[in-house]
Order: sequence, then structure tokens, then C-alpha cells
Amino acid sequence: MNVAVETGGRWQRLKAATSATHDRLDKRIMSAGAFADRARYGRFVQMQHAFHREIDALYSNPQLDALLPDLQGRRRFGHVSQDLTDLGLEPLAETTPWGFGTEADIPTALGWLYVAEGSNLGAAFLIKEAQKLGLSETFGARHLAGAPEGRGLQWRTFTAALDSIEIDEAEEARVIAGAEAAFTRVRALADQVFS
Ligand code: HEM
Repeated sequence: MNVAVETGGRWQRLKAATSATHDRLDKRIMSAGAFADRARYGRFVQMQHAFHREIDALYSNPQLDALLPDLQGRRRFGHVSQDLTDLGLEPLAETTPWGFGTEADIPTALGWLYVAEGSNLGAAFLIKEAQKLGLSETFGARHLAGAPEGRGLQWRTFTAALDSIEIDEAEEARVIAGAEAAFTRVRALADQVFS
């Protein structure tokens, strides 16, 4: 078992604070039949694309790079953009002003990145659904692929870093608020594409 699980570290607190929001999002996406056919799946990819577009600048943030292992390698905007191209779809129109720029409040950004990284863990299940539609890690479902070193290891190195970053209580509250905001944003995008 992960040490953070035993000691109830920051990641565990973050997970506990957001798990109900995650479950509602999961149910919203699955009840919309996101994996029922390619047309519905395409809408899911448009949602994912919009989310990753809004956080993409974080992956080039030097302060975050110093705190998190292999930040560049975790970037998935290129993959999800390619998935849209594979499916012959256009991105959603950009809603401005939205998304992160080159500067960000670091605790808030950590919360958003937690949501993006965690979604790649759940993607182990989602890629199996996408495969039933004839899609794969090399066509249409690239952004759901695991890291070369494995999803589990990639996730453990992220959560270990999250647990070891020195921040105070007020900053940790901003991490949690950032994660909640990210889930809220993805939920709004899900409502938009599946309305
Ligand atoms: C229908 C869609 C989804 C399903 C079925 C799903 C399912 C899952 C599952 C099974 C896990 C746990 C994986 C494990 O512990 O091995 C997980 C984790 C997670 N998912 Fe999802 N997910 C979905 C969508 C999303 C989306 C759209 C996001 C955010 C953009 C997201 C964010 C997360 C996060 C942050 C975690 C990590 C929780 C933690 O352990 O701290 N999920 N998901």
C-alpha cells in the first residue's frame, strides 16, 4: 500500500475531498453514452480537448516543473488534438478568458494537474471501451493511453511528489479548491457536449 494511504497524506485528503464530485462526473459521462458509438465518443474527445487546452500552459511552467517529476512527459494536449484529427472533428470554440497562462498560482495549479493526472488512471478502463469502437492508442484514443513506464508508476510518482511538497494549510486549501474547480469545469464541458 502507498505510504500516503497509511499516513493519510495530502493526496488522500485531496481524493477524499473530490471523490463525490468525480463520481458524479463519471456517471454524467457514462449515462450520456459517451462510449456507445463514435459520434458520442467524439463529443467526449472534444470535452477532453477543451480541458487539456485550458491547462496546457501549466506543463511549461518552470515552478511546477521543479516540483513534479517528468512534467513535460505528462502533457496530453498533443495526443488529444491528434485524436480529434483522427476522428475528423473540430475542437469546441474557445471560451475566453479561460485557461491558464504562463503564470499561475502554484497550489491552485497543482489541484488542476491532480485532476488531469488522475483522469489518466481512470483511462485504463475508458480505453477498453474505446477499443470496442475500433479505436486505439494509435488512432482516436491516443490521449487515453498509459505512460510507457505504466499508469500505476506514473501516478505514484505524481502523488508522492504532491505529498512531499512543502505547503501550509492555506495553500493546501487552494490545492483542493483548484481540483474542485477543475472537476467543475470538466462537468460544464460534459454538459455542453452532451446536452
Ligand atoms: C466515465 C468517465 C470516467 C470513469 C469511468 C472514471 C473512472 C475512474 C476510475 C476507475 C478511477 C480509479 C482508478 C484506480 O484507482 O486505479 C479514476 C480515478 C480518477 N479519475 Fe476518473 N473516470 C472517469 C472520468 C474522469 C474524468 C473526465 C476526470 C477528470 C478530467 C477524472 C479524474 C479522475 C481522477 C483525478 C482520479 C484519481 C482519483 C485518486 O485516486 O486520487 N475521471 N477514474
